[in-house]
Amino acid sequence: MKQRLLFLGPPGAGKGTQAQRLAASHGLLHLSTGDLLRAEVQAGSDLGHQVEAVMASGELVSDDLVLAIVRSRLEHHNQGWLLDGFPRNLAQAEALDRLLAELDQRIERVVLLELDDGLLIQRLLSRGRSDDNEQVIRHRLEVYRQQTAPLIAHYRDLALLVSVDAAGSVEEIGERIKAVLLD
Ligand code: AP5
Repeated sequence: MKQRLLFLGPPGAGKGTQAQRLAASHGLLHLSTGDLLRAEVQAGSDLGHQVEAVMASGELVSDDLVLAIVRSRLEHHNQGWLLDGFPRNLAQAEALDRLLAELDQRIERVVLLELDDGLLIQRLLSRGRSDDNEQVIRHRLEVYRQQTAPLIAHYRDLALLVSVDAAGSVEEIGERIKAVLLD
């Protein structure tokens, strides 16, 4: 199975849910920038204070902050990894390419989880995280369309992208993902 992966997709598509399962079953490092940033907020660190309001609004936090977090996790890790919620824009994707070249590693596959807006919103409203109210969800979807969706063409051009239908049960989607990581 491919070992160096990116999960891409709109908020609520199930990136975190599927990434956690796959990382646990295949011994990959699960690196979720959203989870790492939320942990900083929770801990009340300086970084947490810097990002809290931005996250609550649904905007992206600064590329430099996120890149520093990713670099610190990847530079001492030579095994498989799964990046979830990063990169989020073209500048982050290009910075990741540079970092990986430096570390002599490369992305093996990018999994795009696709789901209708109606289902995305329904899933997020029933979760109820602090940034899961309807107004902020709609803004996160807008930020996704403007800043993150251009990565679809970027990774398609690099022949790394595979799309997976993200509707259905967690188990069904997990099987679809494993199937596209085999060859
Ligand atoms: P982040 O934490 O990455 O949030 P997100 O992209 O909005 O993703 P979500 O966690 O909402 O969705 P998901 O696709 O992971 O779905 P999940 O599995 O959780 O980012 C949050 C914020 O942090 C950003 O807005 C930004 O401010 C900042 N940030 C993070 N990364 C950044 C970066 N790289 N650069 C700059 N800023 C960054 O599932 C959602 C819900 O659906 C759950 O309740 C789950 O249980 C449920 N669910 C999952 N699968 C199914 C299913 N098959 N059926 C029914 N329910 C399901």
